[in-house]
Amino acid sequence: MNTILIGAQWGDEGKGKIIDVLTEKCDYVVRYQGGANAGHTVQFGDQEFVLHLVPSGVLHAGKRCVIGNGVVIDPEALFGEIDALKKRGVRVDGRLFISEQAHLIMPYHKLIDSFQEESRHGRKIGTTKRGIGPCYADKIARLGIRVGDLMDLRIFEDRLRYVLSEKNRVLTRIYGRPALAFGKVYKDFCAWRRRMKPFVVDTIVFLNEAVRQKKKILFEGAQGTLLDVDHGTYPYVTSSNATAGGAITGTGVAPTHIGEIVGVVKAYTTRVGEGPFPTEFGPELMEKIRTKGEEFGATTGRPRRCGWFDAVVVRHAVCVNGLNSIAVTKLDVLDELPVIKIATAYRCGGKIYDHLPSNVRVLEKCRPVYEDHPGWQEDITGVKRYRDLPSNAKKYLARLSRILKTPISIISVGAERTQTIFVR
Ligand code: IMP
Repeated sequence: MNTILIGAQWGDEGKGKIIDVLTEKCDYVVRYQGGANAGHTVQFGDQEFVLHLVPSGVLHAGKRCVIGNGVVIDPEALFGEIDALKKRGVRVDGRLFISEQAHLIMPYHKLIDSFQEESRHGRKIGTTKRGIGPCYADKIARLGIRVGDLMDLRIFEDRLRYVLSEKNRVLTRIYGRPALAFGKVYKDFCAWRRRMKPFVVDTIVFLNEAVRQKKKILFEGAQGTLLDVDHGTYPYVTSSNATAGGAITGTGVAPTHIGEIVGVVKAYTTRVGEGPFPTEFGPELMEKIRTKGEEFGATTGRPRRCGWFDAVVVRHAVCVNGLNSIAVTKLDVLDELPVIKIATAYRCGGKIYDHLPSNVRVLEKCRPVYEDHPGWQEDITGVKRYRDLPSNAKKYLARLSRILKTPISIISVGAERTQTIFVR
């Protein structure tokens, strides 16, 4: 059965670990959207790996890893990551496949991302400055350069000359910065081309052949539902479809081949960057949970904003992704709390919302309606079976499942693979 795994909050739900655990049962692991803005942390014995572009499945020998057409690829970030993996004994040759239809992040994308953020003043999005937004904007504007273009130097040269002349006008006239020299960009990309070539295939054909052979595919979502450009808290979102639909358009595998969609949630909520966050903690709890949960961005190192579990947000994710089940991560981070809150609805201007308001200005004014649950106040990091969890932990999980009308299939109580409880 083919599975899509998505983040059901604002990203950083601990998808890396769940993907790693599920990879054992799969043959292929596929990234379908986003780029090096993602950061999937996987604990492997005493080693910690942070992956940005290479699918997390790469840590399992023999699994095939695919970077699909919906991903935007920065070759510098990609090969930095491949080299770092190689140094630690993880080889990708023969098992990493890169889509010739994927778009390339060019140096001007990264520059424009930074300059745009700087010029937003009070309207910053808090992007990762990896060039993601400008690259997807060019894809939609039909100004993008794809991996396949780079593989044919005549096409690449022609395309780069045309696009760069426009981008240099933007850099010099709008941002008052120096233009990029064609020769330098061309030369750098010729070097990347040589390294990239052995990995490049038509991943649409490749993946559909895997489907035909009844191989098991795991589609690895990056970011989360609330950062989705259509279904998230626009404009405080990333520039791709981080929801389940992105796995279809971002790989060319049809929805009829998908068996299961799993949403990953943290037992509380976090978000990086700007934008509304109704259940955000006050300073004291913020500090406590941020420290205990090590809530610092895997890509930028920025401290994450933390808050109570927001069931309005996750109900939205259940709906737009059609989740079959939920994986709850970092339950152990709540171990010491005497009381744990769940936001079940919002209150705004005398109105109760049980769904996410689409207008970000309304969402900014929403106040959560909480219910309180007694904490379990014991260490659960060694628990292996659902039935051995403290009764208040089971009640908290049962309540989440009931509010979300979705079963919980996996519970994570620590970073290690072994600290995972499968619920029947
Ligand atoms: P961008 O994706 O770099 O354009 O950033 C847009 C927004 O998405 C910012 O608020 C980022 O902090 C957020 N974002 C992007 N990637 C991730 C991620 O992997 N985890 C959490 N937030 C992310």
